Amino acid sequence: MGAAIRRNRCFSMRNTFTRAVMLTVAMLAVGGIILRSDVDVQSAFLKTAASAREVMSLQQPLGRPESAGWGGRVDNSAGVYQEVAVEEKEKGKDAKPTISSSSRVMTCDYDMNRLRRWQEQFQLEETFEYTKRYVQASRQDIPRKSVTHLQQDFLVDAVKVVDVNKEYHAESCPEPLIAPVTKSPFPATANASDFMFGVSTTYERFNDPRTSPINEWSYWLTDSKGNSNGGKLVLLLVDAQPEELEDAYNRLTAVGIDVDVYRSSSDAIMAVRYLALGPTLYNHPDRSSKKWLVICDDDTFFPSFHGLAERFAEYDYERPMYIGTFSEDVNNIERHGPQAFGGAGVFLSLPMAKIIAENYEKCSSEQKIQESNTGWGPQGDIMLRNCIYQNSEVKLTLLNDLWQLDLMGDPSGFYESGIKPLSLHHYRGGIWHVAHPFQYTKVAHACGEDCTMQRFQTADGFVLSNGYSVAYYPRGIDFDLGQFERTFRAAPEDKGWNLDFRMGPQRPSLHNTGRKIAWELLEATVNPDGTVSQVYVGKHNDSRWTNPDGTPMNNRDGIIEIVWLPDE
Ligand SMILES: *[C@@H]1O[C@H](CO)[C@@H](O)[C@H](O)[C@H]1NC(C)=O
Ligand SMILES: *[C@@H]1O[C@H](CO)[C@@H](O)[C@H](O)[C@H]1NC(C)=O
Repeated sequence: MGAAIRRNRCFSMRNTFTRAVMLTVAMLAVGGIILRSDVDVQSAFLKTAASAREVMSLQQPLGRPESAGWGGRVDNSAGVYQEVAVEEKEKGKDAKPTISSSSRVMTCDYDMNRLRRWQEQFQLEETFEYTKRYVQASRQDIPRKSVTHLQQDFLVDAVKVVDVNKEYHAESCPEPLIAPVTKSPFPATANASDFMFGVSTTYERFNDPRTSPINEWSYWLTDSKGNSNGGKLVLLLVDAQPEELEDAYNRLTAVGIDVDVYRSSSDAIMAVRYLALGPTLYNHPDRSSKKWLVICDDDTFFPSFHGLAERFAEYDYERPMYIGTFSEDVNNIERHGPQAFGGAGVFLSLPMAKIIAENYEKCSSEQKIQESNTGWGPQGDIMLRNCIYQNSEVKLTLLNDLWQLDLMGDPSGFYESGIKPLSLHHYRGGIWHVAHPFQYTKVAHACGEDCTMQRFQTADGFVLSNGYSVAYYPRGIDFDLGQFERTFRAAPEDKGWNLDFRMGPQRPSLHNTGRKIAWELLEATVNPDGTVSQVYVGKHNDSRWTNPDGTPMNNRDGIIEIVWLPDE
């Protein structure tokens, strides 16, 4: 392991003055502007005028978007695609600006540049449904709930259909949904200084935009503003060139990650390179300031670092400790054995890592390599377990909030389960599933760490699995939301119960039943004003959202944009 580089706020504002301004605003036919008694009314008014000008300056005559014909009124016995008389939906709808409890401006205009970009980026048809909803986080002294029932409806109006070739009048925003959440800490304040992480990968994977872990690492190793959170990363790049090491170092350092990049040689097989992470971390000069040395994969993601650090504060770091989790798939335990599966993260106390470092030669011998081969090639996780079990009395401490996620197919059942996982893995596709945890966790910057994957069920049969999806259940929620929906598959051989020991028996998938349709998050943005925009996308031809006869539940693509307003 030659060292290469070391540098080393809805209440409505009912006071007369504000109301007068509101009225003016409404007369300007510009809705969706939020004012607050204690904000500078004039500047808010100027903002209104500015956005009005922007809208008016457009070349084409402005129209109102067509109505998709569903929503606003939910008849649970009908399919999703329910005709609602449009005149009825349109009448009595004055553009009435709504007020958010926060100082933030809510806008419900049709920003065609964004809509066009999304249409291209997400390969939508030129006309698609577009719904925008604000959610006000209400931070309270309450425990985290898996599902929070809201009295409000998700849809306050018929779903609108936009055509990217047209321009539309701005509309007034409905009052935001109020979402009670815990007062959980924000990702930016995590302190990872007790931890040092070791990852072995290739420069190719590091550099390929499809597999590059830079964004994900910046979430759990920095304050997301370019500063390290104290966590140290030791990155080993197999057979990398000096300029590749330099490039990796520069790009990680640029986002604020405290990293050392080393070259490792492919002369040692993968399983051995993995085991070698133990001594490499243990021999690192920063060891003395650390409590936990963590071996993980380049697709291991820690969505709730405060939660993780809190949990580790309960363990005795002065004892030799080997902490991790099994695969959720019982077949993999049968195949490979009962060790910590590395993708979920393997946590070693310093005394544990010392034992591994002292026995490294023995533990990496040809014979030990062979012993780690269960017919699937030598396994680093097995070598590590054997090294520990054969040279100490220490046994694995299971931490089942870590997830290896040996899941194939549609991972929604997991991400819509309402749990708060401490690690995530296998989200880059290949034989496994596809997920975007870096995008999912952005909302934590607005509502706190606990609210990622937290569920909010509205009065009209929608469930927002925050950060992951907005699902609509047109026949109602007549199943147990406390159970995982089995949307995914276990790797062959899938006996149907492979995952039960970890997840509990899973409720049947609602794919192709006509009982569920979902829009899934593909992009999220932390805005300069501290709000977080989430873009949930649905495709008319998504093979999952059909009626039992195979007909699509919705014949249009759609975007649901949710904007989270942080509590004050
Ligand atoms: C982070 O944790 C370390 C060690 O537990 C402590 O010394 C340090 O003061 C903490 N840093 C902050 C900014 O709280
Ligand atoms: C869905 O339709 C789009 C065009 O709107 C097409 O590009 C895509 O391949 C279709 N997907 C499936 C699964 O049929």
